[in-house]
Amino acid sequence: MTAELRITASMATYVADHRDLKYLFFGGKGGVGKTAMAGATALWLAGQGRRTLLASTNPVHSLSGLLGQNVSGGHTAVGGVPDLWAYEIDTRETIERSKREIREKIQWFLKFADISTKADDFVESATMNPAFEESAMFENMVEMMLKNEYDVYVFDTAPTANARRLLGMSKVYSLWVDKMLKSRQEARTLREMLSFTKKKEADPLLEYLLGFRARMGQARQLLTDASKTAFFFVTLPEALPIAVITRFIGWFQEFGIPVGGIIVNMVLDRRALGGDVPEFVLNRLRMQDDHMKTIAEKFDGSVRAIVPLFDEEVRGAAMLGQAAEALFG
Ligand SMILES: Nc1ncnc2c1ncn2[C@@H]1O[C@H](COP(=O)(O)OP(=O)(O)O)[C@@H](O)[C@H]1O
Ligand SMILES: [Mg+2]
Repeated sequence: MTAELRITASMATYVADHRDLKYLFFGGKGGVGKTAMAGATALWLAGQGRRTLLASTNPVHSLSGLLGQNVSGGHTAVGGVPDLWAYEIDTRETIERSKREIREKIQWFLKFADISTKADDFVESATMNPAFEESAMFENMVEMMLKNEYDVYVFDTAPTANARRLLGMSKVYSLWVDKMLKSRQEARTLREMLSFTKKKEADPLLEYLLGFRARMGQARQLLTDASKTAFFFVTLPEALPIAVITRFIGWFQEFGIPVGGIIVNMVLDRRALGGDVPEFVLNRLRMQDDHMKTIAEKFDGSVRAIVPLFDEEVRGAAMLGQAAEALFG
């Protein structure tokens, strides 16, 4: 007998059962509706009277399009929706800022170590790679989480592989920073021993590393706290998106990151199709039915919502409201 897809605990139930839920993330394959579902969820949470920030750490800009207003400059109040703010992080600006900070640190270090090389070469090699961009975006996200200016944060996450690397990185960061700290402290002690003056010098690099380690530690704590954090995975009733979230969920369990559940999006509603359904659509229906069974078998008890394929894109307040109704209604 094949399993029927049942929702044992809906989105609304999950949120009600997690009173302290504060950080919600949406993951899944590109194009499955992460941005749309994140937006609809943020709209619904704001509707509950909770100060909500909908933020995108995704280099592919999408929130401004979703909301029909420019939200890339900073935290922007969403027109006509009380308690909702949105912010699309500017990748270029974030990267430039991180580069500037790193340049200062490297310049300071070269001076400290009496090395007469230009900082530029180091800065270029340290920052000219995708991992640096991701880490800059990750830091920006962590900064937002730790500022604690909102009741709830909804993050429209980057596509799967990047998000995993982002999370894996917080562990690697810690190891790296610990190592750096150790060698910095040794260098510092040596310098103090060799110096004639007893005066202690400020060490911006050491301070930066200490601060950084503290932030990463806090971030990891928040990200692995199932009462505060939940990752929701969006899929379609199709083979590839299901394979993607299956892999993703495995990784997350490995990292100890709480999985809030699964949202099945763009499901054809048989009743809405009327009587004379063309063969092409019937085939799509059968295909979806098959994959719905797979989802039921694989993710029994974790499916939080089944969202229909609407006859238009999810853009603007009215459509977001309709998607929120499908998610939480
Ligand atoms: N349930 C739905 N019905 C109709 N269109 C949808 C639905 N969910 C998402 N869309 C549309 O599909 C496209 C991709 O959605 P999007 O949220 O941008 O995906 P992602 O962020 O995962 O790449 C968008 O044009 C969006 O408006
Ligand atoms: Mg998106």
